[in-house]
Amino acid sequence: MTSHIMPTYARLPVTFERGEGAWLWDVNNNRYLDAISGIAVCSLGHAHPAVHQAICEQSAKLLHTSNLYNIAVQVNLAAKLAEKSGMDNVFFGNSGAEANEAAIKLARKYGHELGVAKPGIIVTEKSFHGRTLATLSATGNAKVQQGFEPLVEGFVRVPYNDIPAIKKALAENDNIVAILVEPIQGEGGINIPADDYLNQIRTLCDQHNLLMMLDEIQTGVGRTGKFLAFQHNNIIPDVCTLAKALGNGVPIGACLAKGKAAQLLTAGMHGSTFGGNPLACSAALAVLATLDHDDLIKQATVKGDAICAGFSQQLKDNVHVLDIRHKGLMIGIELDAPCPDLVAAALQQGLLINVTNERVIRLLPPLIIDDQQIAQLVETLSALINARFA
Ligand SMILES: Cc1ncc(COP(=O)(O)O)c(C=O)c1O
Repeated sequence: MTSHIMPTYARLPVTFERGEGAWLWDVNNNRYLDAISGIAVCSLGHAHPAVHQAICEQSAKLLHTSNLYNIAVQVNLAAKLAEKSGMDNVFFGNSGAEANEAAIKLARKYGHELGVAKPGIIVTEKSFHGRTLATLSATGNAKVQQGFEPLVEGFVRVPYNDIPAIKKALAENDNIVAILVEPIQGEGGINIPADDYLNQIRTLCDQHNLLMMLDEIQTGVGRTGKFLAFQHNNIIPDVCTLAKALGNGVPIGACLAKGKAAQLLTAGMHGSTFGGNPLACSAALAVLATLDHDDLIKQATVKGDAICAGFSQQLKDNVHVLDIRHKGLMIGIELDAPCPDLVAAALQQGLLINVTNERVIRLLPPLIIDDQQIAQLVETLSALINARFA
């Protein structure tokens, strides 16, 4: 059949029909273990009853009004996010890229208020911030940018996890107003920086009067074993962006701001028709309540440790495995050669995984994954790796 979908994705040959927890079933009723959660989205698993109930009840009452009016569930969600993050306020959009667009606009506005005519933002190599023009310009991957020049200007790029490079960029550019980084790079290959990387960025931002902006779109909402990854560092950024797991599959993005960043955007400066609508906010409130109630965030640490201990054991004799790294349930297995073919091989064995940066197997299993599923994940994937990289 001719496809009328724009071919922006090289899709795997499978169509899913339903899911439950960490399981998915395709249209032929084959069952798959989902170890990627729709790329860090369905952290509570598929068809979670609390999310199902919340969106059913909300849709029976009200789907959408407009940000022309007060929206009670949006107010409640913002309060809950502020409480859990320590941030002051929130702008709601519909995706990660939109959350980052809001952050970039905040930085520009902040710069203009300081009298900087062309405000610059420090960003990192191998970062990923989205596919809109500003966010792809901030992204540190030439493949994402190619063909879409001219890029949005004002981004100064430095290597990730390199504080001296940030200091050098600050010395060489007098227009820097913000630093935007991911606490752990997801698309870039599960790159986990030094333990004090974020603390050092916080210090530099304070010294130079810059906004510290964290893209927590992949790391946030419990995935790394804290509600937000920056909470491992006991710091607080000026701006933090969320999306993905916040709605467990219902599209929602959020740009959280604190202190001097929180009052920069006023009426008429930014907006979104759908952003923060009742349906999306009801899903997000159900997600946050479930995370609290079921203690799932703590389990992310325990389960991530168990999965990686399993892989370390099963892959210990494989010289092609260069590294197994993780924080909570954000897991990377780095091989010494490209391995994108493992994704299709795993699919055939009923396992959904992802490969990023060519040679890093990325696993983002749902926080509700159970012990049996963990054993199956470790066994199936280790066997595949050991067979393919013998
Ligand atoms: C760290 C990070 N930022 C931004 C985005 C973009 O989010 P979205 O695809 O919802 O626009 C992603 C998506 O993978 C991401 O991982």
